[in-house]
Amino acid sequence: MKIASVISTKGGPGKTTVTANLGAFCAESNLRTLLVDLDTQPSLSSFYRLEHEAPGGTYELISQNQTRADQVISRTYIPNLSVILSNDPHNQLSNMLLYAADGRLRLKNLVAAFADDFDLMLIDTQGARSITLETALLCSDLAISPITPDMLAAREFYRGTQQLLKDLEPLSVLGVHTPPLNIVINKLDATNDASLIYQSLVETLADHPRLNLLNTTIPAAVSFRRAATEGVPAHRLEYRQPHNRRSPAAFSVIRALACELFPEWRGHFDKLAFELLGAHEELAS
Ligand SMILES: Nc1ncnc2c1ncn2[C@@H]1O[C@H](COP(=O)(O)OP(=O)(O)O)[C@@H](O)[C@H]1O
Ligand SMILES: [Mg+2]
Repeated sequence: MKIASVISTKGGPGKTTVTANLGAFCAESNLRTLLVDLDTQPSLSSFYRLEHEAPGGTYELISQNQTRADQVISRTYIPNLSVILSNDPHNQLSNMLLYAADGRLRLKNLVAAFADDFDLMLIDTQGARSITLETALLCSDLAISPITPDMLAAREFYRGTQQLLKDLEPLSVLGVHTPPLNIVINKLDATNDASLIYQSLVETLADHPRLNLLNTTIPAAVSFRRAATEGVPAHRLEYRQPHNRRSPAAFSVIRALACELFPEWRGHFDKLAFELLGAHEELAS
């Protein structure tokens, strides 16, 4: 099972949007996918309609080490897409983890229980530096950080992330290392000079070996807003590029993102594209 956490120390850059859409895309590509909502504001938990709701969620998982599927795993209406719901509105987990001896490593010790049943675990986090974000990061094989395309946000992100990685460095004596961090620019629109921003970001991030700026960028597009409103993944709402628009269809964007993050599953993603777009278009693209 591959584990990816979606993190940033700010609210609003698109963590939940990326988690929900990437997760549904992977699930439809026949990967057994488990979303984990570690945000105390449970927007990922309510993104997709549930077919089955488990009695427990992240609270039982983390505070009681409850990993039994019938207790914590809910199923969405999308085949292959399950979710561990957020049920910690008062942020009690953070306090609990702060005082637990294994606090930051708690999730790392728990996730092995899901390895046989899932191919991919995607963890959405809160938009603030917190111990829950840290426990998610430390159990992950890779991290994904959406950032909005402006240089002030990028510099702030860079400082915050550098500090976070530095603070977690002492855990390396236990053999626990932070995963590589993949940055994806989200909400790129026509008012942004995309190539200029991309270049400045490359330069800002160049001297940090753990930070990788992804080639894929996500445009600001109504399909991503509609996805949240309608509870339907963006790639389903828009799989062909609208004629009057320059930015690519949500389907191509999420597909490119998935291929860049999980190249080992490219065959799965190509197959979904073939099924959805049809043989003709696929060969032409
Ligand atoms: N690429 C995008 N295009 C248009 N709207 C977006 C895009 N990404 C995110 N949004 C919108 O921005 C808002 C914040 O996104 P969200 O994913 O909730 O951020 P976060 O989880 O980081 O707080 C939401 O209203 C969401 O629909
Ligand atoms: Mg969110």
